[in-house]
Amino acid sequence: MRFKVSVIGAGFVGSTTAQRIYEKGYADVVLVDIVEDKPQGLALDMMESGPVLGTDATIVGSNGYEETVDSDVVVITAGLPRKPGMSRDDLLLTNMKIVGSVSEQVAKHSPNAVLVIVSNPLDAMVQHAKVVSGFPKERVVGMAGILDTARFRSFLAMELNASVTNVQAYVLGGHGDSMVPLIGTTTVGGVPVADLIEKDRLEEIVQRTRDGGAEIVKLLKTGSAYYAPSAAAAQMVEAILLDRKEILPCAAFLEGEYGINGLYAGVPVKLGAKGVEQVIEIELTESEKAALLKSAESVQELVNVMAASS
Ligand code: APR
Repeated sequence: MRFKVSVIGAGFVGSTTAQRIYEKGYADVVLVDIVEDKPQGLALDMMESGPVLGTDATIVGSNGYEETVDSDVVVITAGLPRKPGMSRDDLLLTNMKIVGSVSEQVAKHSPNAVLVIVSNPLDAMVQHAKVVSGFPKERVVGMAGILDTARFRSFLAMELNASVTNVQAYVLGGHGDSMVPLIGTTTVGGVPVADLIEKDRLEEIVQRTRDGGAEIVKLLKTGSAYYAPSAAAAQMVEAILLDRKEILPCAAFLEGEYGINGLYAGVPVKLGAKGVEQVIEIELTESEKAALLKSAESVQELVNVMAASS
């Protein structure tokens, strides 16, 4: 029997995530959206690529949740993307309503699923999904760190004319302006990055990483990034389905780790069949620790706004 994965929201991020998972062939996929016929049309188109790609998995579209029953993993991408000039935080209350109603349906139809949240502002949305679903912290995780780290790794590889596979890095903290790229642990082919790129240039690359999402929004004009976000979401789904115990930076619910309590933040976690199987605590410098706490404060502010609105 194949695994079952549902992707809620058949926009750019959702449809590309569904496509990536479907093409792997190990999971049947259900794509859900409120727009009539849209998920059905996209799913049919993807299904018709199966004979060419050699995948026997199935993919169906739906406007409801019946088809999603007993999914192993549910990826939530429903919600508005930002437009030029907007921050992810500007989406807070609109996407809170959407993610809340989706999480309620998902919890009802797939009570044992692992939820992977992608909608922005990410850290606040994953916190809200945990509250509404009532799922344990292991089974509600957010996608941000892999994406931010992939952007950082891409820029470093471009700068050094090196293979992206040789760039090891972590970007921790919230998925926003206060994200924390770790310099001390970043290496290229095993060599510390600070030995390869001078400080000011490295700071420019860090800033480009922080602005990575906005850079794409500015170019696209009508929406936000989706190729890299969907690749990151699909990597998380695979780590969970295949019980890979892969250590990846994700938004996880912290209870004292890194000095943060009762809040989601981007940290390295071990992802496996149970979801977040372990939060990995790596040694941070004093300034990295302070930056991570500051980033958590910005997430807390959003959580407070959500609490005041409900
Ligand atoms: N249930 C299901 N789908 C919904 C709901 C809902 N309640 N509300 C909205 N949607 C759908 C929309 O109909 C649309 O098809 O969510 C989809 C969002 O798609 P896009 O507008 O293309 O946005 P996208 O680029 O995919 O981004 C989605 O992911 O990365 C984040 O910031 C991004 O919050 C945004 C989300």
